[in-house]
Amino acid sequence: MKISIIVAIAANNAIGKDNDLLWHISRDLKRFKELTNGHYIVMGKKTYFSLPKRPLPNRTNMVITDVPGEQIDDCLMAYSIEDAIGKMDPEKENFIIGGGSIYRQFLPYADKLYLTRVHKDFEADTFFPEISLDEWELLEKEDVTDDKQNDFTYSFEIYRRK
Ligand SMILES: NC(=O)c1ccc[n+]([C@@H]2O[C@H](COP(=O)([O-])OP(=O)(O)OC[C@H]3O[C@@H](n4cnc5c(N)ncnc54)[C@H](OP(=O)(O)O)[C@@H]3O)[C@@H](O)[C@H]2O)c1
Repeated sequence: MKISIIVAIAANNAIGKDNDLLWHISRDLKRFKELTNGHYIVMGKKTYFSLPKRPLPNRTNMVITDVPGEQIDDCLMAYSIEDAIGKMDPEKENFIIGGGSIYRQFLPYADKLYLTRVHKDFEADTFFPEISLDEWELLEKEDVTDDKQNDFTYSFEIYRRK
């Protein structure tokens, strides 16, 4: 089973506020779409209902909730982390797409991290856990310094568990 986390993180580890993202980065959304296309994407119920278009097309949307038996149209439901892992695609990469509570619970199970590091602090109510470089090896890094839509720079990073 391959489990990957994909997340965009501010310099202060912020990832969300008021059940929304903190920025609009077209290049990041494009990268997210390319990486996750055709795969399972796994998310908490709050993140699912924060999506502007849902379910996300061309992907199996797995939604995790504590509400027993709850069903959401066109989604695969899971009722615990273990249940979600049991329902994942054994053949392909499964992407954990948030939010904060789901990232925290899946971090011990993940073998790859696709990080977009935004080089600016943001005020937030949801944060990503600290990543230890003792546990993760940086495989790739691409700096983006020419995004005219935003007043900050960012980097696309890929890590694998050591
Ligand atoms: N920067 C990024 O890359 C990124 C990506 C995604 C999301 N976000 C942001 O993250 C924020 C949302 O994160 P969040 O932590 O508030 O919510 P969340 O993780 O998206 O969803 C939380 C919900 O998931 C369910 N859940 C969590 N753990 C569970 C478990 N072990 N068993 C069963 N159900 C479980 C519960 O649903 P029930 O209440 O139904 O039981 C819980 O209320 C938003 O601001 C969003 O924009 C940021």
